[in-house]
Amino acid sequence: MKLDINSTVLKKRRIAVVGFLGAIAGLLFGLDTGVISGALQFIAEEFALSDTMQEHIMGALMLGAAVGAIFAGWLSYYIGRKYSLLVGAVLFIIGSFLCAFTPNVEILIAARILLGIAVGIASYATPLYLSEIAPEKIRGSMISLYQLLITFGLLTAFISDTVLSYYEAWRWMLGIVVIPAVFLFIGVATLPRSPRWLISKGREQEAEKVLEEIRLTRKEVVTELQEIEKSLQIKQSGWTLFRDNKNFRRSVGLGVLLQIMQQCTGINIVLYYAPRIMGMAGFLTTAEQMWGSVLVGSVNVLATFIAIGVVDRWGRRPTLLLGFSVMAFSMDLLGLMLYLDLDATWAHYFSVIMLLVFIAGFAMSAGPLIWVLCSEIQPLKGRDFGITISTATNWLANMILAATFLSLLNVLGAANTFWLYAALNSLFSVVTWWFVPETKEISLEKIEANLMQGRRLRDIGQLL
Ligand code: BGC
Repeated sequence: MKLDINSTVLKKRRIAVVGFLGAIAGLLFGLDTGVISGALQFIAEEFALSDTMQEHIMGALMLGAAVGAIFAGWLSYYIGRKYSLLVGAVLFIIGSFLCAFTPNVEILIAARILLGIAVGIASYATPLYLSEIAPEKIRGSMISLYQLLITFGLLTAFISDTVLSYYEAWRWMLGIVVIPAVFLFIGVATLPRSPRWLISKGREQEAEKVLEEIRLTRKEVVTELQEIEKSLQIKQSGWTLFRDNKNFRRSVGLGVLLQIMQQCTGINIVLYYAPRIMGMAGFLTTAEQMWGSVLVGSVNVLATFIAIGVVDRWGRRPTLLLGFSVMAFSMDLLGLMLYLDLDATWAHYFSVIMLLVFIAGFAMSAGPLIWVLCSEIQPLKGRDFGITISTATNWLANMILAATFLSLLNVLGAANTFWLYAALNSLFSVVTWWFVPETKEISLEKIEANLMQGRRLRDIGQLL
């Protein structure tokens, strides 16, 4: 008996470690997307860059990430999730070195595209891997751990940029990312392979061994093996399934919609332009603005803990509904403050508080939950294809929104731009209500069975 309890504790620990190591890729995602914002002004000075060139440096990572996500679908189908992440880690290492030692801006752009490819692979393979190894009861929290590490990476990047900015050490800002990249490589090398991927390649015995390692009882192992085998009976994959199967087209469509919704909340506008928004709210010095970014990053991390705590208890739908409402509300008030343009201290602080409420609303809901849902709703045979499309959508939408924000500001004005995002967030509450399924505590195989029976998208997470 004592032995049993001990082995249960050991296994739980092992599951936690596997989840954590798998999620480290999120840290690199956050670091690499965040680090450029502080480095850019110094790079621009050193190489005397035009605005367009600066936009190219910003956009290079997102473009690379969209390409990386598409490439990762193919890669992870052939070599598996674990080895894809290893490829990602190697690219992170090479890309960071290249950035730190770049002799000119062309090589810097190429290095940022390379890092983008790594981020694309990471943002594709991590939630997929975590969803496939996580026990049902904690699947939501485990995938949210990935988002927690993204936010932690962003915050670390903001802090390190702020500190290094006093020395104008932009090469260090970009180069320091090598350290976590090496950790990622070592960590991922010790991970087990995804049991679902192994079975899809006819390697049942290996899959069984992995499940023995990360499930608590023999019964769980057997049931899961049977369920996976059953869901693999449809002998089609990816594109063919998409072409021939209406139900699969519905889940792919839902994945695309969810990622567009996540980006159209306006989160990255707020993150990338946080210093500028702080400026619009009356905080004018560079130091004030950079520390403002650190504050934004901290709230982003802290509120993600809320999601981890509630996602498997409240469920996906209520958490998302609450999050979109909070975001709509805070963007509305932020728009109002910009419209009134009051020059009073309370008004400045109130605007910053609304900015932080917005970040908290995102971090406790759409931040993690969209990744959770996208990795849960695709049927096993088409999972690589479906998640490829939704992840690439995330990056393309991110790129388009970042590239159009400044023009939107010019055309609509600050208040209207923020009101536009407020309206979108209200719309997303309605969309969530109509289309988004509740997937807590239900097996991926049951979700798949419901989808393939043609049940309404909103109902594919139902047990009966
Ligand atoms: C989004 C990113 C965003 C980050 C912020 C992620 O879930 O996909 O675009 O920058 O959250 O925390």
